[in-house]
Amino acid sequence: MVTGAAGGIGSALARRFHAAGARVVLSDLAGAETIAAELPGSIAIDADMRSERSIIALIDAAEAEFGPVDLYFANAGVALGSDPMDEEGLWEVSFDVNIHAHRWAARRLLPEWLARGEGYFCSTASAAGVLAQIGSAPYSVTKHAAVAFAEWLSITYGERGLRVSCLCPQGVNTNMLNSGDDLGDGGDVVKSVGVVLEPETVADIVHDAIVDERFLILPHPEVAGYMQLKATDLPRWLAGMRKLQRRVLGV
Ligand SMILES: NC(=O)c1ccc[n+]([C@@H]2O[C@H](COP(=O)([O-])OP(=O)(O)OC[C@H]3O[C@@H](n4cnc5c(N)ncnc54)[C@H](O)[C@@H]3O)[C@@H](O)[C@H]2O)c1
Repeated sequence: MVTGAAGGIGSALARRFHAAGARVVLSDLAGAETIAAELPGSIAIDADMRSERSIIALIDAAEAEFGPVDLYFANAGVALGSDPMDEEGLWEVSFDVNIHAHRWAARRLLPEWLARGEGYFCSTASAAGVLAQIGSAPYSVTKHAAVAFAEWLSITYGERGLRVSCLCPQGVNTNMLNSGDDLGDGGDVVKSVGVVLEPETVADIVHDAIVDERFLILPHPEVAGYMQLKATDLPRWLAGMRKLQRRVLGV
């Protein structure tokens, strides 16, 4: 099951796992049926990640069609707002979609996964979840929360058959990166710091990481180096991030 599957990374994941033989349930607010129509045997179910009821209904409907969920991609995400001073609503949507939706899906799926002794939860966080998103406080904060939740799941249930991965890309060529309404100037920063990957490349990397059951999926390997710098010399990392912000945004 893939959320945020109407385009971008989600539709590429759906195509890649369909090619690997999976029966795929694609979900999004709307539009996932266009992708599902290309993938014989797959289905699309609309759901709103802001609502726990909607997520439960999605999983219920998927299981009624295909049986138990083997692999759940919590991939839907929003990149909104910029600042702690932003209106509350932007923070609420960011928390709902980028982290509470992961928790709600896990709450619905965990009992049956633990009873079966297996299950796989993969979330799409971001490099911003292990570093920071210049230009967006809500994105930085909620993506950190998504990484922390995935780690917590792996620690708590890893010995009981749950496998967990967390995808943390830098730039990927999708609507989110390219739309001024989403990351805005932050998108320019992402594009300036490294290669922008195609969603299909990311989906191939995710497929291989899941086959290997690797927790942290870094399609941009340089992110591991930035994480190391952050862990070992935080003042230098913070100064570097401020310099990057000045260079790209002029502030
Ligand atoms: N594009 C990048 O550079 C990049 C980098 C790091 C992480 N990500 C993450 O990758 C994931 C996928 O994003 P993408 O880059 O493919 O962009 P995208 O905009 O193509 O995909 C995001 C999807 O989430 C869906 N969505 C948003 N709110 C929703 C809601 N309330 N209910 C259900 N679906 C909802 C959107 O409709 C959209 O299809 C996101 O979690 C994003 O934060 C993207």
